[in-house]
Formats: sequence, structure tokens, C-alpha cells
Amino acid sequence: MDLYRKVAELIKSFKYLVAFTGAGISVESGIPPFRGSQGLWSKYDPEEFAHIESFLKNPAKVWKMIRDMFTTVLEAKPNTAHKVLAEMEKRGYLKAVITQNIDGLHQEAGSKNVIEFHGNCKWLLCLGCGKKEEVRKELIEKLPYPKCPKCEIPLKPDVVFFGESIPFSVRKKAETEVSSCDFMLVIGTSGVVYPAAELPYIAKIRGAKIVEINLEETPYTFSITDYFLKGKASKILSEIFTKLS
Ligand code: APR
Repeated sequence: MDLYRKVAELIKSFKYLVAFTGAGISVESGIPPFRGSQGLWSKYDPEEFAHIESFLKNPAKVWKMIRDMFTTVLEAKPNTAHKVLAEMEKRGYLKAVITQNIDGLHQEAGSKNVIEFHGNCKWLLCLGCGKKEEVRKELIEKLPYPKCPKCEIPLKPDVVFFGESIPFSVRKKAETEVSSCDFMLVIGTSGVVYPAAELPYIAKIRGAKIVEINLEETPYTFSITDYFLKGKASKILSEIFTKLS
């Protein structure tokens, strides 16, 4: 039996499948990953541009990177990989998506139960009064940065910067899904940023099967992965999906 059929059989036989996704699932939507030669962090040092301390010290500088990132993210559309996961949820095969991505493409593809571990860049937040504003072109084009109309301080994308903690409610929801899952698809993540990267290990400790989809090996591959499917997420997921029906 080929590996795709094997994984499809496993998906049908397990009760609680959860997908854990990273930037790799959105690369085929035109959004660069963070690491690797084409990664965002090869262009911007995350310490200088994606740390909460840098944002507070020099918001204008950090907003240069944010504006650059927005150009690709706001035009991106869900790709086949996002759509297959949404369809799998619709047919009852998939219970939840826990994503590290901030692009909102899982929901745009139709996924309902999505936990955004690092937030969503489609909202801007005032750290002063907590007011949230939906991102729109004229807002992000304000120089040097968009401001809260009430507090007159820089607005911040509603995403988790380095140096910030994951909101407790988000961690709680993610850990509840992980503790219920008996099968986890780990898709397009380098597995190096904590506490998000811990989730597949927690699933494994609780006895879940781990299937990993990635272009290259990661720290999971030779430690907790049961089946490693090397290749592009959209191609692999559509192959598996054809064997599900
Ligand atoms: N299909 C499958 N995997 C892919 C594809 C693809 N088409 N393209 C790239 N990948 C893989 C890469 O091999 C890599 O392992 O996706 C992974 C992307 O890794 P990162 O860029 O490190 O992204 P991610 O793991 O999501 O980063 C986690 O780090 O910077 C923070 O907050 C940021 O959420 C992000 C976190």
C-alpha cells in the first residue's frame, strides 16, 4: 500500500485528528516562510524587527517590516492545502486546526475550528486602550505608522511578537485539542519556536500518531514522527484526500 493510502486509512481509523500548521502551508499562496534562504528573517533580523521591545522602542522601523509583510499577506488566497483541510473538517475527518500562521487563510478556505496560536494580522490593536481595528489599506499606509484615534499611540498588529506570551485562552484551547487528539498532521513547520513547537510533543506523549508533511526533515522527524511525507503540502494533502473518499 502506498504511503498516501496508508495515511488515508489511518485518518479513517482514528477518532480525533488535529492539524498543526506553520508557514510552509502558506508558501504556495505566495507568502514566504520565516526561515530558510527565502525566509522573512533572512531579510529582517527578528530580534530587531519582530520583538515587542523593538516595537515599543522604534515602532516606525518595525512598521516598515509590517508594511512589507502586509503586501503579500493581504493579497494571498488559500491554496489547495488549506482547502483540503477545510473539506476534511466538513466531512468530519478533521476536528481542529492549530496554526502558527497569522494570515487567516485557514478560515478563508472554510475551516471553522481554527486556533491562531500567534494571532491574526488582519486586526490592529491599541496597547493603550485595547481597541481593535480591522486592517485596511489606507490604515496601514499611514506614515510612520497608524495610530489609535483615541490614545494617539502606534497601533500594533494583533499578533504575538517575540518576547510576548501566548494569550492564556489560546493556549488553553490548543492544549485541550492536543490532549483530545489521537492523530496529528504536522504540516509546514520547522518546529523551532516555543511554546507552539511543544504541541506535537505533547500529542505524542499522550499517545497520538504523528504524520509530518514538509519539504525537509525537522526536529520532529527523527524523534516523534511516525510517517514523514516529504514534499509540498498541497500536493501531498490532495493525494491523501483522493484516497479518503
Ligand atoms: N510544503 C510543506 N512544507 C513547506 C513548504 C511547502 N510548500 N514550503 C516550506 N515548507 C516548510 C519548510 O521546510 C520549513 O520547515 O515549512 C517550514 C517553514 O518553517 P518556518 O519558516 O520556520 O515557519 P514556522 O515553523 O511556521 O515558524 C514558526 O516562527 O518566526 C516565528 O511566529 C513565527 O509562526 C512563526 C514561527
